[in-house]
Amino acid sequence: MRPTDSVARQPLDMTTQRKILVTSALPYANGPIHLGHLVEYIQTDIWARFQRLQGHECYYVCADDAHGTPIMLRARQDGIEPEQLIAAMHKEHEADFADFLIGFDNYHSTHSEENRQFANEIYLKLREADHIATRKISQSYDPEAEMFLPDRFIKGTCPKCGAEDQYGDNCEVCGSTYAPTDLINPVSVISGAAPVERESEQYFFKLSDFTEMLQKWLHQGHVQPEIANKLNEWFEEGLQDWDISRNAPYWGFEIPDAPGKYFYVWLDAPIGYMASFKNLSDRIGISFDEYWHSESDTELYHFIGKDIARFHTLFWPAVLHGAGFRTPTAVYCHGFLTVNGQKMSKSRGTFIKARTYLNNLNAEYLRYYYAAKLSSGVDDIDLNLDDFMQRVNSDVVGKVVNIASRCAGFINKRFDNQLSASLPDPSLYRELVDGGASIATEFERREYSKAVREIMALADKANVYIDENKPWALIKQPGKAAEVQAICTQGINMFRVLMTYLQPILPQTAEKSAHFLNSALAWTELSEPLLSHAINKFKPLMTRVEKSSIETMIEQSTEHLEPEQKAAETGGALADDPLAAEIAFEDFAKVDLRIAKIIKAEHVEGANKLLQLTLDIGGENRTVFAGIKSAYAPEMLEGRLTVMVANLAPRKMRFGVSEGMVLAAGPGGEDVFILSPDDGAQPGMRVK
Ligand code: 2FM
Ligand code: ZN
Repeated sequence: MRPTDSVARQPLDMTTQRKILVTSALPYANGPIHLGHLVEYIQTDIWARFQRLQGHECYYVCADDAHGTPIMLRARQDGIEPEQLIAAMHKEHEADFADFLIGFDNYHSTHSEENRQFANEIYLKLREADHIATRKISQSYDPEAEMFLPDRFIKGTCPKCGAEDQYGDNCEVCGSTYAPTDLINPVSVISGAAPVERESEQYFFKLSDFTEMLQKWLHQGHVQPEIANKLNEWFEEGLQDWDISRNAPYWGFEIPDAPGKYFYVWLDAPIGYMASFKNLSDRIGISFDEYWHSESDTELYHFIGKDIARFHTLFWPAVLHGAGFRTPTAVYCHGFLTVNGQKMSKSRGTFIKARTYLNNLNAEYLRYYYAAKLSSGVDDIDLNLDDFMQRVNSDVVGKVVNIASRCAGFINKRFDNQLSASLPDPSLYRELVDGGASIATEFERREYSKAVREIMALADKANVYIDENKPWALIKQPGKAAEVQAICTQGINMFRVLMTYLQPILPQTAEKSAHFLNSALAWTELSEPLLSHAINKFKPLMTRVEKSSIETMIEQSTEHLEPEQKAAETGGALADDPLAAEIAFEDFAKVDLRIAKIIKAEHVEGANKLLQLTLDIGGENRTVFAGIKSAYAPEMLEGRLTVMVANLAPRKMRFGVSEGMVLAAGPGGEDVFILSPDDGAQPGMRVK
């Protein structure tokens, strides 16, 4: 077996070439990549790049996690097939990752033929070995949408604290966890109907068959100590069978010999690691079996967030073992991201999508900042935006890049690009090269913040050298040219060492630096400085972070709720604000109020407060989304007259375009009252 976390603390054997397969968790195919996700992809990518730089064979694979109820419903809501949705998300995710310089060897999908085959193979092997059981269980069912409901798709009043509008698995207000059946007045998020209990047969993976195997695995140091402690708690509670099936309608793979039953998304998601690697191995001609059947020559690492540890450290090793595959060398968990010390928030503009960031800032700034904060533990990391700017500007631009820009001009202009034949301070150069061993150890252990600290301490020494030798002053003295050339040669060589260490973190700047140095950045070749060597013309390698770019990014990430959306969100009427400012008559006169006949009223899939109304305003029909579902059932509205604002600019909402607004009054909840004109009013009449 290859180094695990505990073994990796030994001095590293740099001589043998290791064969390593690395993965990051597969992002769901129903949402964009954001800065929270990127902690993990950047962490993994740095590690994979570092391993390759050490001369090891290292593959890094990932994929979209393309199955499950939320993806099925999101596609329905958008009026497209799930295949279309996942294809579009795949493209978007791939572009985001590429622009953050995440160097996957393969980016695949769990909705792939390879994954279907592995999922079936694994299931059948488990079944053959008697690790699958079936039994009837009772679950929440939406009689209107005609489907079983995942806990997250049921909302109601918290049984502990009475908070309204809480999910079926836990309360966001008091933090208690419960079963959806415990909720008071539960409703299906999909249709608004009250769920009923319905029995059906399900397929279970008998996790308890693996108790001993998992306990042994756990004590061999494959997980971090914090996670091992958590696992011990689960062992104490006793391992429960795991329901790996879901009833139709479901978006996933149908279970062999079980029509209408599908693999639960979490069964086939980690199998996606294998599928992605299989797709790669077929493409480039490497052995799949070497990495997935045997533990003797290869290493397998999963980087994940701490929230999904249970799936990767209990179910996954047991499933692999039960189906005759190797188990992971290690599962590395990281913490969550906070921004400016708080949970990411749409209203504060700190829920930042990868693309919004990229539209404003350089990917390498974030790679550097995350590296400077990451350790091997599971603690959360904070992206403090002021600190981010200050740190990138002072470390990367001010310390490292500055060394090259202070020395390059002289070599380019005065010495025809030629470096001198010897170093004036070989022992300082050696000190930088010798620092590499400890830096490598920190990278290997995922203690990137320590690696960064050590690299910056060496950069400080390089800057002190240049400050003390002042080539810019010396060049003005006659007969000192050779000395200036030597000092700048020393500086450029020290820059080469530092940039080589930073290469896993800053691959693009490293590439530009290699071009400038006219030499590849090879960790193992640093003991030989570049001497009597021609470099290329220096071009600026990285610019400073601008505060205005951060501000624009925040502004672009801030969701300002429109009053209409607010009304819809609160389920209340317009007159929420008793202090609404006085307006002039001319302003009021601009409002085109009309009598409207509600010719159709419907539930809106996925919206728990809105009804979709079709309104006749005298020969013209309008679609309006109104936040009145808590007060009216659709059948109470059809055929009634009401009053609408007919000249409100159309507004694109999540569910469609709303072409106006229906007037209603009341404090909210059941007490919302749409305005009802007296008999005799006709659709289309203007309200005077
Ligand atoms: O939690 C998530 O975002 C999942 N999509 C991660 C899956 S990781 C692996 F198991 F596929
Ligand atoms: Zn509660």
